[in-house]
Amino acid sequence: MSTSLIRLTRGVPPAESFPVERLKVCAEAVLDNDAARVLQYGKSRGYPPLREIVARETGADPDRIIVGQGSLQLQDLVARMLVRPGDVVYVEEPTYDRTLTLLRRAGARVIGFPLAADGPDVEAMEDRLKQGERPVLFYVIPDFQNPSGTVMAREKRRRIAHLAQRYGFWIMEDVPYRKLRYRGEDLPTLWSLAPERVIQLSSYSKLISPGLRVGYAIAPEVLAENLAKMAEDTYINASYFNQAIVAEFIQRGWLEEQLARLKDLYRPRLDATMEALEAHMRGIATWNRVDGGFFLGITLNHGVRADDLLEAAREANLVLTDGRGFFASGGGDGFVRLPFCSLTPEEIREGVARLASVVRALRG
Ligand SMILES: Cc1ncc(COP(=O)(O)O)c(C=O)c1O
Repeated sequence: MSTSLIRLTRGVPPAESFPVERLKVCAEAVLDNDAARVLQYGKSRGYPPLREIVARETGADPDRIIVGQGSLQLQDLVARMLVRPGDVVYVEEPTYDRTLTLLRRAGARVIGFPLAADGPDVEAMEDRLKQGERPVLFYVIPDFQNPSGTVMAREKRRRIAHLAQRYGFWIMEDVPYRKLRYRGEDLPTLWSLAPERVIQLSSYSKLISPGLRVGYAIAPEVLAENLAKMAEDTYINASYFNQAIVAEFIQRGWLEEQLARLKDLYRPRLDATMEALEAHMRGIATWNRVDGGFFLGITLNHGVRADDLLEAAREANLVLTDGRGFFASGGGDGFVRLPFCSLTPEEIREGVARLASVVRALRG
């Protein structure tokens, strides 16, 4: 173990989480029962039975639900639909690096608000709004944030929903990890607080399989039609076959069982991460308690250069993600994202111990 390569970069589900046999059964059932529809082109909003399922679960109008080729593609369409070059977009800092890329590609001037244990700095945001800045969009991951693992507190959710209503910006609420809660109670989504201001994005990537590429958006009425039109003009429709497999899986009651399985698989990995941090990183890094999702973010207490950290880790057979990629306005040198789901508890313990020695050696 001590010499094998450990990748602390893998924010993906492990292969053992995939419900392969059940997906085979679903694929066969779909072809038996609905082949003519799932093998054909379809409407861009997505496979109707899946949209009905999401509508029942969320209470959203099915016409406002658009199922896409993963949720990231829908994020990209939302950004291209709403952002004009030079427009201001707010994000949490750190945030999901791919979203930063697609927002910038749409021409956004991205402004980050530092993330605390209970969510982004709402005071700083309100100050800028009061001074007259007018963002078009605020991108947030309120539940088990990527990359930090934090959950936005109830009060901040309420305040952000209120600010969006008052100052007229859209909230892009990304919740792919929401159902992977290993402890504690759910908090209300931003969408439930301000459905007319929030585009909620979710995904089956982390719940069933990312290879299916099935995710969805719930959009306010004034945006749904445009979003569906953009989707149609971009790819006609996302795969009905894959969406039908997901619908079949859910209708058979297998998603609930899958979630229970995933929690049993991931909870000990999160616990191993927290224990290893306590054992090896106290005094050299800070982190927040994490209760779900895929990630835990740590910040080193002493200044390091990201290039030095990545290089020293590499020499210790440890691959890290460059923390700078998650920060919209620079910084992030001493930020390390620990994805714990695709590593065994032994790999996590060894990886964290190795990271601690690397950091201590760099401090000299
Ligand atoms: C916060 C966040 N949003 C979106 C995605 C992409 O999801 P999808 O596979 O549905 O495109 C990811 C994947 O890691 C993610 O972490």
